[in-house]
Amino acid sequence: MTATDLAGAIVRLRAAGCVFAEDEAAVLGGVATDAAHLSGLVDRRARGEPLEQVVGFADFCGVRVRLRPGVFVPRIRSELLVHTASTELRTAPTDPLREKAAGERAADPLTGGKTVVDLCCGSGALGLAVRHEVPAIRLFAADSDPVAVACALDNLGRDVFQGDLFAALPEALRGHIDVLLANVPYVATDHIALLPAEARLHEPRTALDGGADGLDVFRAVVAGAADWLAPGGLLLSEITAAQAEAAVAAVRDAGLRAGIVEDEDLDARAVTARRPEHPKR
Ligand SMILES: C[S@@+](CC[C@H](N)C(=O)[O-])C[C@H]1O[C@@H](n2cnc3c(N)ncnc32)[C@H](O)[C@@H]1O
Repeated sequence: MTATDLAGAIVRLRAAGCVFAEDEAAVLGGVATDAAHLSGLVDRRARGEPLEQVVGFADFCGVRVRLRPGVFVPRIRSELLVHTASTELRTAPTDPLREKAAGERAADPLTGGKTVVDLCCGSGALGLAVRHEVPAIRLFAADSDPVAVACALDNLGRDVFQGDLFAALPEALRGHIDVLLANVPYVATDHIALLPAEARLHEPRTALDGGADGLDVFRAVVAGAADWLAPGGLLLSEITAAQAEAAVAAVRDAGLRAGIVEDEDLDARAVTARRPEHPKR
C-alpha cells in the first residue's frame, strides 16, 4: 500500500464522518491486499459498517476475535464480565466430591477443569478471552443466530451449539456449569432507536433488543440458571444501572444469591447470580 493510497483513504473516511480517520485508514491498510481492495474496504466503512466487521476482527481483552458481517461486535465494557469470570475460576473452591465423580468417569466430557458456558455467545469473544486468561477450562458456547454460531466456531474451534438459550446445550451440562457468561441482548425496545447507526443497521436486532425493560432474555436465563449451574456456580450478565434493581429482584425470585459488580473506568456493570451450595431446608 502506498502513502498516496492511505492518504486517499483518510480523505474519504473523513468525508464520511469517521472521527479517527487516520487510525482507521491504518487498520484498513493493514488488511488490504492492494489499492482496489483498500478502496472496497473504505467504501464499506464509509457506508457505516463497523470497522471490526469490515476488517473481520476485533481486538478484545487481549485476544483477537474473528468477526463476520452481521455479528455483534464485542464491546470494551464487557471486559468486566471476562475479568469477573476469570477471578471466579481462579479462586472458587473446587468441590472434591464432584471432582472425584468426574475423575471416575474417564470418558466423560465433564472430566477436567471447571466448566464455563458462553450463552448468547455472538462471536464467542467472552469465552475466548476467559480461556485466554484461564486456559484449563472446559468451554461451551451457544447462540440462536446461525451466523453467530459459525463465527464463534471460527474463534473457539469446537463445542458451539445453535438454539434458544439452554435448549442448545448438551444435556450433560445440566447442573454442572461453574461459570455461566450470558451477555444477553439488554437494550430496552424504546431505546433501540437511540443507538448509533453502526449498531442499529449492522448488528441484528436479536442481538440488541431485550424487550420492554431490556430484561426479557435475562429473566429467561435466570429462570433456567438454577437448574444448569453447578452448586456454588455463578451466572454473570451485563446490565445498565437503571436495570440493576429489577435484575437483582429477578435473581432472588429464582432462589439465587444476587450481587452487582461495577467498573467505573469501563462504565460497566453486571449482575451476578450464585446458586447456593446447599438447597434451603
Ligand atoms: C449482546 S449480543 C452478545 C454477544 C457476545 N456475547 C458478546 O458479548 O460479544 C447478544 C447475543 O445473544 C444472541 N441471542 C439473542 N437471543 C437469544 C436466544 N434466545 N438464545 C440464544 N442466543 C440469543 C444474539 O444472537 C447475540 O449474538
